[in-house]
Amino acid sequence: MQIQFTNLFKLAPEKKKIFKKINFLIKNNHFIGGSEVENFEKEFSKFVGSKYCVTVGNGTDALYLSIKALNLKKGSEAIIPVNTWISTAEAAANAGLKVIFCDINLEDYSIDLNDLKKKISKKTKLILPVHLYGNPSNMIQIKKIINTKNIKIIEDCAQAHGSTINNKHVGTFGNIGTFSFFPGKNIGCFGDGGAIVTNNKKYFEYILRARNHGSLKKYDHKFSGFNSRLDSIQAAILRIKLRNYNKALKKRIDIADIYFKNLKVIGELQLFKLKKGYKSCYHQFVIRTNVRNKLQNFLQKKESQQWYITHIC
Ligand SMILES: Cc1ncc(COP(=O)(O)O)c(C=O)c1O
Repeated sequence: MQIQFTNLFKLAPEKKKIFKKINFLIKNNHFIGGSEVENFEKEFSKFVGSKYCVTVGNGTDALYLSIKALNLKKGSEAIIPVNTWISTAEAAANAGLKVIFCDINLEDYSIDLNDLKKKISKKTKLILPVHLYGNPSNMIQIKKIINTKNIKIIEDCAQAHGSTINNKHVGTFGNIGTFSFFPGKNIGCFGDGGAIVTNNKKYFEYILRARNHGSLKKYDHKFSGFNSRLDSIQAAILRIKLRNYNKALKKRIDIADIYFKNLKVIGELQLFKLKKGYKSCYHQFVIRTNVRNKLQNFLQKKESQQWYITHIC
């Protein structure tokens, strides 16, 4: 049996509103930037609880531009968990840093703190914890480990919209947090999209220019930047989806609870173990097992009960 990972058309309960908005934007020639983008940035920073938010073309650019904002010396070491999507390491390498891979723990699959301690050296200037599958990395301990060392933190929140630690959104513990709005993400647009959140004015101002050829307005190029902007149509879609997101997230969490309770009947399954106060947005519900076929048969029988998390947005 094949389960579709995502089906944008089927999944968007807000499709009517979305099509109406797209129609309006096309009719009125609103394509790049403008009020939809600015309003989404305000709404997303409020959702996350950060002072600033800058949208960019995708989650990979969000990582790259964030690293550039830190202005680290070429060859500085960046510690990155081994288990992530390529973008995290790719962005660091492309920004001239030396990537040092760190192991993950098998409870929630985030960065392993013992290995992190071993990997920190005099050359370490950046740690990039990844809140993979939506599970928050242990930001409290990571910050304790860094303590007074001159090491910056960029949190890769590409899979963690709505994940929190003691009710504080991930992405607000380090210096910068980055998000992806790739269609398959919990908050996904109908194309590519990304965002950066920070409380630091200097980083915010750099990224705001860097995403738009180094300029804030026409012919105001202060440095050679990049072209990495969110378009108005994606921003409008994201605004509509963000408004419904708390409801969609609750549904995900309820379905995850069903998995946690009911999968116990099959032994030999390794499920997530989240720490107290750590809330996952369950971007993915990952199960490790040696009895794959047994699990598959069990889930197949449950299909009629709509267990599949892929059925919600
Ligand atoms: C952990 C992680 N980081 C970064 C990215 C990059 O995001 P994007 O595909 O929007 O460039 C992704 C996307 O899948 C991701 O899962």
